[in-house]
Amino acid sequence: MGTLSIKIDPWASLEVKDYGEAMKEFGIESISDLYKKLPIKHHYFSRGIVFGHKDFGRIVEAVNQRKPFVMMTGLMPSGKFHLGHKVVADMIIYLQKLGAECYVAVADIEATLTRNIPREEAKRIAIEEYLLNYIALGLKSKKTRFYFQSDGSVEYNNLSKYVSKKTTFNELKSIYGDLTPEKIVSVFTQVADILHPQLKENGGPKPVVVPVGLDQLPHISLTRDIASKMKSEYNFVLPSAIFNKMIPGLQGGKMSSSKPESYVALTDLPEEVEKKIKKYAFSGGRETVQEHRAKGGNPDVDVSYQWLTFFEEDDKKLEKIYHDYKSGALLTGELKQILIDKLTKFLKHHQAEREKAKKVLDKFILKD
Ligand code: TRP
Repeated sequence: MGTLSIKIDPWASLEVKDYGEAMKEFGIESISDLYKKLPIKHHYFSRGIVFGHKDFGRIVEAVNQRKPFVMMTGLMPSGKFHLGHKVVADMIIYLQKLGAECYVAVADIEATLTRNIPREEAKRIAIEEYLLNYIALGLKSKKTRFYFQSDGSVEYNNLSKYVSKKTTFNELKSIYGDLTPEKIVSVFTQVADILHPQLKENGGPKPVVVPVGLDQLPHISLTRDIASKMKSEYNFVLPSAIFNKMIPGLQGGKMSSSKPESYVALTDLPEEVEKKIKKYAFSGGRETVQEHRAKGGNPDVDVSYQWLTFFEEDDKKLEKIYHDYKSGALLTGELKQILIDKLTKFLKHHQAEREKAKKVLDKFILKD
């Protein structure tokens, strides 16, 4: 693996300035043409929110030939489930609709080792924050394996150790920079997460796609490298990945669980959300109404507009908002109100679904 000039630290929160640059640097391919071959549309793809992939062609082929394939991803059980997490959840559910068998790992070992989250707390967050929200967003229990890293099978645990022989300390350092023993254990555990759907006990080699943010790229690269070196023993298919852009924080910059003014959680009350948006949403508007009417606003830096690119599914409506804001016909307060209405409607429905989800939790966590 070559030396890269940009390093991604998966344990720090990543802010990407230029996705085009990152794609070149990390050999990520554009997904816009491949996506057109899929039978179900999704605006994350058509708008470049899911912007790139590695080996996603295999998955498209499996979908179209109705062959088995797996969606595998993991969640870090720390903090609130917010709109940034929803983006990945939407992709999980979309891939399930395309026919994927779903493996969802709760990274409780990683959370305890690298974020000091007690085991019981990690368990609680995984269920109350993540699983309930996934179900409310549409994840179905059929063909879903929701598991805790601390609860994996013997073969999964063995794999997490054997993979260590297929890399070197120098390779790890060149991918991750600074390392600690805890991080190394977390890395090998995640490699096993991604590869174990292809173990004999899980039906053997098959295409696997991992939907993630760019911060997880180092793990994907290492796993692919390790998988290629295990060909003779396991015959692994190199795992594929799709990468989504991060939704910006409310004030611009990063959305972060540790900064409540940066996010909207899926359990926030609609009234709180309205206040948050009015108070914090970074605006691309002008100083005065007169100036705004005369010169127009800048939707490209306006966070309310950016959020609508994630959540307003109707292309025509979105386009009209873009042009009206740019021309000055639409004022900042009005744009914020469009976002508030959209989110209020979504949150009310979602929170009712989340209550219902409590009744079906067993189907996800007490299986086999
Ligand atoms: N490291 C991931 C995170 O910080 C969580 C994770 C664990 C994961 N296992 C995984 C992600 C497998 C993708 C695939 O969010």
